[in-house]
Parts: sequence; structure tokens; C-alpha cells
Amino acid sequence: MSTVAAASDPAQLKSAREDIKELLKSNSCHPILVRLGWHDAGTYNKNIEEWPRRGGANGSLRFDIELKHAANAGLVNALKLIQPIKDKYSGVTYADLFQLASATAIEEAGGPKIPMKYGRVDVSAPEECPEEGRLPAAGPPKPVDHLREVFYRMGLNDKEIVALSGAHTLGRSRPERSGWGQSWTAEWLKFDNSYFKDIKQRKDDDLLVLPTDAALFEDPSFKVYAEKYAEDQEAFFKDYAEAHAKLSNLGAKFDPQEGIVLDGVAGEKSMAAKYSSGKRELSEVMKKKIRAEYKAIGGSPDKPLQSNYFLNIMITIAVLAFLASLLGNYGMPWQSLQHPLMYSPNCPPLFPQLPLAVHVFMETPSEITSSPFTINSPPSPLGASSALISDSTPSLTPGLFLNPFNLDVLISVLEVYNILHDKHI
Ligand code: HEM
Repeated sequence: MSTVAAASDPAQLKSAREDIKELLKSNSCHPILVRLGWHDAGTYNKNIEEWPRRGGANGSLRFDIELKHAANAGLVNALKLIQPIKDKYSGVTYADLFQLASATAIEEAGGPKIPMKYGRVDVSAPEECPEEGRLPAAGPPKPVDHLREVFYRMGLNDKEIVALSGAHTLGRSRPERSGWGQSWTAEWLKFDNSYFKDIKQRKDDDLLVLPTDAALFEDPSFKVYAEKYAEDQEAFFKDYAEAHAKLSNLGAKFDPQEGIVLDGVAGEKSMAAKYSSGKRELSEVMKKKIRAEYKAIGGSPDKPLQSNYFLNIMITIAVLAFLASLLGNYGMPWQSLQHPLMYSPNCPPLFPQLPLAVHVFMETPSEITSSPFTINSPPSPLGASSALISDSTPSLTPGLFLNPFNLDVLISVLEVYNILHDKHI
């Protein structure tokens, strides 16, 4: 078995995903692949900083010593199923392959699209596996307390505990593995909200309800979410997708640090994902450009740039003056507004000028540097906004104005612009 600890290659990840889809079609192994991904990630301990001692999604579950932990009974079969794919793609780590297989299985079973990212680095030796006992037990004396103890240690909250438990809509438990029998739902290869409906109604005695499943409808805080998911599949899908992505990143070390996105927007923390509606997401080319420029001026995806407090204060004053001028002119013909930022004669008043103003700042960093109060109006208002959405977009260098923001916020600003203006940058 390979002990290479390099990260994954995007092209190979995509091909591997196609192979996983074929495997799912021929073997209907969705549930065990989901359990494999979860058990690799779920050993994470947020109280340990050091990688890989903190556990999590690092591919350690490929080693015998960890596969033999009681909680992992049967998962050797999942590894056997995907080992040929690992052998085919030397540029995909185990850590990524486990999470790719799990997310693909959820999606192929009819579940939501998971905003995944890749680039997880593998641990390289069995000595780096976590100790036994970090995963939850199914029949502990105090199920509610136990769930909180284990999932809080991973940094997950009540909503995420309930949403993730909904993965039991897939699969079965087997007496020879866990000691329990049956499936949680009648259609155990279909991902939907029937897990919550079935536990709530308890109509079918043949269906499994573990003590930790029942706890979701007993504890008042868990119950709020369990009831909601039983009623509203869309709400369940939304929360599940976010929680699954978060779970898949636990403890992982990414190379590159911001991870690799195969399609669309990734990241449980991404505000961009929250605001985008598919077609209005920034294109990959645009995101690459923003990232490159952000890095070029000393930013990193994880931490905001150093703030220039003087400039920020000046800009805040300028924005307040701008808002005051809007209020002052409220009710008057908008054409008469004379503020330098209100350069678009085709814009209706008040609201649309705000994102536009952000763009003026973003596209004129040098003017801002010399004086925030002498911003030149672009020669043609429409020219400025259309330049922003054309392929030949001039430099999007965020400039000093965006100093207090991190990369996610910057992307979100642009995506909010997309939504307000119905454009696709
Ligand atoms: C809340 C605490 C959890 C407990 C106590 C628990 C317990 C179990 C048990 C006992 C089994 C049966 C294993 C077997 O006999 O083969 C199982 C299966 C499964 N678990 Fe969980 N689990 C929990 C959370 C999760 C989470 C968070 C996920 C995924 C996000 C998950 C996904 C699955 C799946 C898909 C199966 C079916 C596997 C198959 O059919 O081969 N579980 N779980």
C-alpha cells in the first residue's frame, strides 16, 4: 500500500469520480462508501492542533490497525471496492478518495450536491492512526450526552449532529458487524428525509432505530431539527450538504491550502455559496484571477490582509457622506445627484449604486491611495460596469479598500453584485 503523502491532482480527481459512479451503478455500494468517508473524518479532535495527531480526514483508515477498530467492522470491504480506483490514479490521495466516494454516493443516491473541496494530504504510516474510541457508539447508556460529547469534540453542533444522522436514510446495519440488524428506512439506497419521517411515525417495527437515533426526537434541542427535517426535505438537504462538507474537511491538511474545487463553489464557510444561485456563481476563471491578485498583494485565503486603519476610516467617512447625500436627495429626481460615485445615469437611485460604488473603489485603487475624496468618474458609466463583466476585465486588484476583508468576503461581494444585476461574471 502506498505511503506517499502528496496531495491530489484535479484532472485525476474528476476521472476518479466517473469511476466511482460506475462502481456505484454496478455494486449499489452507496451506504458503505458514505460510512467509509465518515469514519475517516469522524476521528477528529478539535482540541489537538497538531496534524495528523488531531485525526480527521487524512486517509489513516486505509491502515489495518485502524480498520480493526470495532467501530470500523466491515469497512475493509469498502476499501477493497475502491482500491482499484486508487491504484489507477496515483495522483489522488486516499483521504480525498474516501471523501470523493462518500459525496458522490450521496449525490448519486438522489441526495443534495455537496460543496466539496479536495487536496487532502495523506498520513504516511500506521503509527499516525488515531487511537481507538473516537467514533460514537450506537447504544451508550446516555445517548444524548454521548452524541454531544463525541460530535462537540469534532467541533460540530446540534444542528449538524441531527442533519448528519440523516445519512442513515441509506444502508443497513448487520449483526456480524455492529450487532444490530435491519435498515433504518424501507428504500435504503435512496437518499431522502424518510429516516426522520420513519423514526417520528414508528409505523414499521422492522425498521431500525438505534438509541442514538431515538435521541434525536427526545432531546429538546435535537428535536427542533429532527421535526423540521421530517416535514421539510429541502431544509434537510440544505443543512445536510453543509454539514457533510464540514465533516469531510475535519482535521484535513490541504495542499494547496485553499483546496481544489472540482465544480462550482466549495467550502462550508463560503458566504459566496450562500448567496449564489448556480448560474450567478463567479466563473472559475474569474475566481482564479481574484485569488491570484489577492495573493499578489499579500493576502491569503485564510487570513484577511493587514488593515490600513487610516484609509478605512477615510473610506467609512466617504461612504457615510455618500449615504447622507442619498438621503438628502430622497424624493428628488435622481439625475440631479452630484456625488462623484453616482456616475451611472441609467441606475435607479439608492440601492444599485452601492455595489457599483464598491466596484469603483475596487477598480481605482490608485485614486483611493492618493485621496479617497477625489475619485475620478469613469468616462462612461456603462463602460465601467460592462468592462466588469466582459472577458477583457481590467485588473480587479481589490486595492486597499478591501484590506479588512478575506477572500470569501471578496468573492461574496462580487456574487451579490451578480445577483443584484442579474449578470454572470
Ligand atoms: C450519530 C452517531 C452514529 C452512530 C451511533 C452510528 C452507528 C452506526 C451503526 C451501528 C451502523 C451499522 C454498521 C454495520 O452494522 O454495518 C451504521 C451504519 C451506517 N452509518 Fe452510522 N452512525 C452514526 C452516525 C453516522 C453519520 C454521521 C453518518 C454519515 C454522515 C453515518 C453513516 C452511516 C451509513 C451510511 C451506514 C450504513 C452502512 C452500510 O449499509 O454498510 N452514520 N452507523
